[in-house]
Amino acid sequence: MTNQTNEQKKEREPCTNSIQCNNPEKEEQLQKQKINEHLGKIKHKIAIISGKGGVGKSTVTANLAMAFAMDGNKIGVLDADIHGPCIPKMLGLKGQKLKGDKKGEFSPVTGSLGIKVASMDFLLENDETPVIWRGPLKMRLIQQFISDIAWGELDYLFVDLPPGTGDEPLSVMQLIPDMDGVVIVTMPSEVSEAVVKKSVTFARQVGVPVIGIVENMSGFVCPECGKKIDIFKSGGGKRITQKLDVTYLGTIPIDPKVCNDSDNGIPFIAEKSDSPTAEAFNGIINKIKQTLKKS
Ligand SMILES: Nc1ncnc2c1ncn2[C@@H]1O[C@H](COP(=O)(O)OP(=O)(O)O)[C@@H](O)[C@H]1O
Ligand SMILES: [Mg+2]
Repeated sequence: MTNQTNEQKKEREPCTNSIQCNNPEKEEQLQKQKINEHLGKIKHKIAIISGKGGVGKSTVTANLAMAFAMDGNKIGVLDADIHGPCIPKMLGLKGQKLKGDKKGEFSPVTGSLGIKVASMDFLLENDETPVIWRGPLKMRLIQQFISDIAWGELDYLFVDLPPGTGDEPLSVMQLIPDMDGVVIVTMPSEVSEAVVKKSVTFARQVGVPVIGIVENMSGFVCPECGKKIDIFKSGGGKRITQKLDVTYLGTIPIDPKVCNDSDNGIPFIAEKSDSPTAEAFNGIINKIKQTLKKS
C-alpha cells in the first residue's frame, strides 16, 4: 500500500517546528509543549495593559523591568506590541536582531543589567515598513513569539501588550500560562477613564488578577514658576479604582525627562534621581512589589 495521498503523507511527517507543521492538533500540542518548556523557568509573569495606545504602557514596562533588575532580579521583557514595538528603543537595544537556530528557537537580546528582550522590532528590516499581517497570520506570529523564545531562568517576565482589549492582547493573555497579574496604565482624562473599565473587565474575563492601576501623564509642574497644570485633568485613575475595587498604584506626572530618557534608551528610573517624578515611580514600583510578595 504505497498509494498515500499528499495529506496522509503530511500527517505522518514528524513535526519539529510549529511553522512547518501541517497538522493543527499536533501543532497545538507542540506549541503547548514549547510554551511550557520556554516559559516554565520563569517565576513571575506580569502583563502591562491599557485600554488604548499612547498612555505610557511601554514607558512603565521599561521602567518596571529596570527597577526590578536594579534589585538583582533576572528580568525578561516580551514586547508583544507587534505594530508599535518600542521597548528596544526605550532599553537602548535599537538595531539588534533576534538570533534563531535550526530548531526554530530564538534567543532574546540581552541589554543592561542582563535584561533579556524579545520584540518584533528585532525582526523588522527597518522602521518605515509597517507590519501589515492580517488575521490568522498575525495570530500565528504572536503564538510563535510566545512559544519560540528561549528565555531560560527568569525571576520576572514583563509583557508589554498591544493596546486595547481586542484579539491580539487576548491571544497573548490566553497563551501565557500562570500570569501573576496585570498592571493597567491610564491617563487622567474622562475618555481614558471609560476605557480603563474595559481593561479591568478584560483582565477579569481572562481570569488574571489586576495588580493595580497607574495614572500616567497626570499634571505638569512648570519648571519656571513651579505651578502644577493638569493638562489631561486629574484624579481619573484614582476615581476609577474606587469604582472598580482595584488597587490604585499611583500617579506619574508629565516630565520631559521621562520622554528624553526613553528616547535615549535609558529608563528614567535608572538615573536614581530624587525628583518628584522619580518619587512617584518608586512609590508605584514598591506597591507592585508589595502586592507580588502577598500573592
Ligand atoms: N510621564 C511621562 N512624561 C513625559 N513623557 C511621557 C510620560 N510617559 C510616557 N511618555 C512619553 O509618551 C510617549 C508614549 O508613551 P509610550 O510608553 O510609548 O505609550 P504606549 O506604550 O502606551 O503607547 C513616549 O514618547 C513616552 O516617552
Ligand atoms: Mg507601547
